[in-house]
Amino acid sequence: MRTKLIAGNWKMNLNFIEAKELFRDVQAIENNDKAIALCVPACYLSAFSNAVDPFIFAQDVSAHVKGAYTGEVSASMLASLHIMGSLVGHSERRQYHAESASVLKEKVDRLLENNLIALYCIGETIEERNEQKHEAVIQKQIIEVLGHLTSEQMKNVIIAYEPVWAIGTGVTATTSQAQEMHAFIRNEIERSFGQTCASQIKILYGGSMNASNAKELLACPDVDGGLIGGASLKVDDFKFIYES
Ligand code: PGA
Repeated sequence: MRTKLIAGNWKMNLNFIEAKELFRDVQAIENNDKAIALCVPACYLSAFSNAVDPFIFAQDVSAHVKGAYTGEVSASMLASLHIMGSLVGHSERRQYHAESASVLKEKVDRLLENNLIALYCIGETIEERNEQKHEAVIQKQIIEVLGHLTSEQMKNVIIAYEPVWAIGTGVTATTSQAQEMHAFIRNEIERSFGQTCASQIKILYGGSMNASNAKELLACPDVDGGLIGGASLKVDDFKFIYES
């Protein structure tokens, strides 16, 4: 039985006062059978670092171990703050920071070396979907970045399926599109890492998940939670999604 995870991705939003207030409001959400995580800007990590409820994630991590990489934050720094893990491969980083599969693979490795969780984001563009390439794209994104891992290492990996065309657009995947892709991803995980890994791995859906569509998306058998951007910035919406 996979526990559902509702993860907020604050992206580059909120000043520190707003962040502290929202964090407190999220902490006050009454627990149910789902877990909550927040992916917060790097400069706020230490302020929230000891929290286990919600779990705190970084939004990015360096591909390097340590040294002369100005502006970077290493996985061992995150571990020393008791951060749970980090997003890797969010489409905004792939797009605006030209992060390649080889860099993402290094980032995943740095996290796992430090016993942190890699919340690995994958998803196709609208052009790729229109050309019926979405499954091939997803398969490639899985193999290139996770293909070298053992099934033991995969225990520290969470996947977020985030179709690029749904992120921040207000257009959400239909439940059948989401379920179909999540089942496809789980099948790919089974082919590479075995049945046990496939049945245990969490696959979150992300892309304009909000208070009005969360319930039906979260009811899909292979959707194990959500990665929520815009709607995670308003506690009422985030709470509604968590309670869906
Ligand atoms: P969105 O963002 O919910 O605003 O579409 C999701 C994400 O980018 O993780």
